[in-house]
Amino acid sequence: MELFDVYPLYDITPVKGEGCYVYDENGTKYLDLYGGHAVISIGHSHPEYVKAISDQVSRLGFYSNSIKNLMQQELADKLEKLAGIENYQLFLCNSGAEANENALKVASFETGKSKIIYFDNAFHGRTSGVVAVTDNESIKAPFNKDHHVVKLPFGDAEALTEAMQEGDVAAIIFEIIQGVGGLDEAETAFYKKAEKLCENYGAILIADEVQAGYGRTGDFFAFQKHGIRPDIISIAKGMGNGFPIGGVLIDNNIKAKYGMLGTTFGGNHLACAAGISVLDVIEKENLIENASELSEYIQQKAKEIPQIKKVKGRGLMIGLEFDFEVAALRKDLLFNYQIFTGAASNKKLLRILPPLNIQKEHFEAFFKALKTALENH
Ligand SMILES: Cc1ncc(COP(=O)(O)O)c(C=O)c1O
Repeated sequence: MELFDVYPLYDITPVKGEGCYVYDENGTKYLDLYGGHAVISIGHSHPEYVKAISDQVSRLGFYSNSIKNLMQQELADKLEKLAGIENYQLFLCNSGAEANENALKVASFETGKSKIIYFDNAFHGRTSGVVAVTDNESIKAPFNKDHHVVKLPFGDAEALTEAMQEGDVAAIIFEIIQGVGGLDEAETAFYKKAEKLCENYGAILIADEVQAGYGRTGDFFAFQKHGIRPDIISIAKGMGNGFPIGGVLIDNNIKAKYGMLGTTFGGNHLACAAGISVLDVIEKENLIENASELSEYIQQKAKEIPQIKKVKGRGLMIGLEFDFEVAALRKDLLFNYQIFTGAASNKKLLRILPPLNIQKEHFEAFFKALKTALENH
C-alpha cells in the first residue's frame, strides 16, 4: 500500500536524535534549528524523559477517561506553577488542532453563539472549525467553508472594534506571535483592546499558544508580555517534546458539564508521563531563561549579516527575513551544512525553532555556515 502523498519530502531519513542533533541512517549528524516544527522543547531523547516514558509504559500505558488518572492532576498542578497562571481548568487532548477545536467549541457552548473572529495570516490547524479560522483557502474543503467566521487584518484594533459592535461574536482567536504566518506580533494595545472588547460584548478571548507557548518565547506564554488574561489558552507542540499531547486551559468562570468535551486518547498515562517530564526538565534546566538569553545573542549576530533585513519573533521563536526567497538557502543549509531550519508563508523568512536547551556554540556554528552559504546566494 502506498502512503497518501500529501507531504513534499526532503530525501533524509533521521533515525536517532540527541539533544540539538538528529542523525540519519548513514550516521550523518544534523543540527536541528527547526525542532520538528517547534515541537522539540527539552531536546531529542532527553534521558530523564526517555526514562519517564519507558517506566510508565512498563507499568500502565493507557486506560480510558472513565477512571481516575492522578497523573492528569499532577500535570495540571505543575503546569499552573511553572506557567505562573491561576484560576484555569485543564482539558487534555492530543494535538494543536484538537486543542483549538475544543477551545472554539467551549466558547460557543459558553456564549450560545457561533461567530468567530480570526486574522490575516493566522494558522490554527486543519480540523473543520480551526481550518475555517486559518488564513489559507487552499487547505479548506467545501465542507469546512460553512462556518460562521470573520477575518480581519492582524493588529487592527479599529476593525476589531467595528466587528465586535456588529454583535453575535462567540470568540476572538489569535496567535500572539504568528508562527506559520511569519512571526508577526501586534502592539500590546491591540491585545488589550481585544481583551476589553471580549469583556464588554461577552465574547471569549482565545490565545493559541500551540507554537509560542511552553517557554519558547522566553516567557512561559507569549501573551504574558502583553499583560492580558485570555479566557482560553490552547497548548500542544512543546508540551510533549514529540509525544502527541495537547491541552486547553479554560478560565474557572466557564463551567464544565459532563460530556461537553471528550477524547479517547487525550490525557492518557503515557502522555501524562511525557508531559510531566517535559515540565520537570524545563524547570530544572532553566530552559525558559535559556530561550530568553540566547535570543539577545541571536539578534546581535544577525545584525552582522547585511543580507538579513529584519529579525522577527522573540526567544527561540525567531524569523530571519532576507530580501530574497529562502527556499534554496534552506536547502543549501540542510544538504551542504547539515542544518535544519524552517519556512513560513512569508517566503523570504527563515524560521529558527530549535530545542530550548540549545547553546551559544550551536548558533556560532549556524551563523558561520550561514555567512558562507550566503556567498552563493
Ligand atoms: C499556532 C498553531 N496552532 C495550531 C497548530 C496545529 O497544530 P497540530 O498540527 O498539532 O494540529 C499549529 C501547527 O503548526 C500552530 O502553529
